[in-house]
Amino acid sequence: MDQQAEQLKKLAAPLLAWYDDNRRILPWREEVSAYRTWVSEIMLQQTRVAAVLPYFDRFMAAFPTVESLAAADTERLMKLWEGLGYYSRARNLQKAAQIVTEQYGGTFPDIYEKLTALPGIGDYTAGAILSIAFGQRIPAVDGNVLRLAARITGCDADVLDAGNRKMFRGWMAEAMPADRPGAYNQALMDLGAMVCQPGGEPLCDRCPAATFCRARQGGRQRELPVRIRKKEKRVEQLTVFLLRRGGQTALRQRPDTGLLAGLWEYPNVPGALDETAAARQLADWGFTPHRWVKKLEAKHEFTHIRWEMTDYVLEVDGDGPAGWVWADEAERKRKAVPSAFERLTRESSGIAEEGRP
Ligand code: ADE
Repeated sequence: MDQQAEQLKKLAAPLLAWYDDNRRILPWREEVSAYRTWVSEIMLQQTRVAAVLPYFDRFMAAFPTVESLAAADTERLMKLWEGLGYYSRARNLQKAAQIVTEQYGGTFPDIYEKLTALPGIGDYTAGAILSIAFGQRIPAVDGNVLRLAARITGCDADVLDAGNRKMFRGWMAEAMPADRPGAYNQALMDLGAMVCQPGGEPLCDRCPAATFCRARQGGRQRELPVRIRKKEKRVEQLTVFLLRRGGQTALRQRPDTGLLAGLWEYPNVPGALDETAAARQLADWGFTPHRWVKKLEAKHEFTHIRWEMTDYVLEVDGDGPAGWVWADEAERKRKAVPSAFERLTRESSGIAEEGRP
C-alpha cells in the first residue's frame, strides 16, 4: 500500500469516534434514501450546508419522490431552485429523475457505472450515494476531502489537477474502512467543514488526526492544499435595466441554452453603458424614459465568468420588444430570476414596498 494511503488509514477509527460525538444533525441524515441523498448532494455542490437547508425541506415537500420530480413542471422546479445558483443542476436532476423513473422503475441503481451515466452524477456524487444510501465502500472525494487528505499526508501536489485528484482518490479508496462507509464519508465532510477548514487556521486541537497529521507536524496547514489556478475568470461587463411602468417591471426569458438557460431576467445588453448610450439603447427598444431613478453597480461570480453590471432603474413609457413580459411584484416572484440579478430584484421589491399605501 502507498505510504500516503497508510497514513490516511490511521484516520478511520478516530474519525468515526469523533463523528459519533460531533456529527451535524441534518435532514438528509435523519431519514436516508437514495433519492434524498442524491438531491442533497446535488444541492450541496458549490453551496454551503446552511444555505441548502431551507431549500432541501421545501424541495422534499414539493417533490417527495423521484416520480414526482420526473413529472414536475419545469418552471415550478426552477422557482424552487431560485437563489441556489448553478441552475443546470436542477435541469439535470429532473432529467435523471425521468431516467430513473422510466428505465429503473423509480428505484435508484446501486451500481457505480449506472449512476455515473445519469446526468449530473459524477464520481463524487456516485460515491456519496453508494456509500451513504447503499453502504458500499466507495470514496466520495470533493474539495473538502482533498484538503484533508493533502494536509494529513503533507502532500503538496496541486489538487486542481485532474491527475492528482485521481491519485488522492486512489489513496482514499485504499484507506477507507469496510465498516460504516457512509458514516466515514460524511465524517470526512463534517471534519472538512467544521475543523479542517479552508482559509485561516484549521482548529487542529479538536481534530482526530492531530497526533499524526503531517501538515500540523510541519506547521504547513496554511500552505496545504496546493491549488494552482490556471485561468483567470473571464470578466463580462453588462448593463441591466430595471424598467418600471405603473407597478410593473419588464422581464424577458433567456435563451434555451448557455448560461442561466431559460430563466427570467431584466433586459440587459453587453458593455458598461453611460447614460447617453443607455438612453440610445432605450430608444432602440422603443421606450421613452420619463424618470431616471437610480444608477447602481453590482457584481456576480459564476464558476468561470464574472459579471460586472451597471444597473439603471427607471420609469418608462412603451411596451418594448415582442416577447417581453410586464410583471407586477407577485408575478415577478413567481418567475425564476437568478440571483445574479439580486441587486435589482431587491431594488424592485423596495420600490414595491415604498409604493404601498
Ligand atoms: N457536503 C457535501 N455532502 C454533504 C453531506 N452529506 N453532509 C454534509 N455536508 C456535505
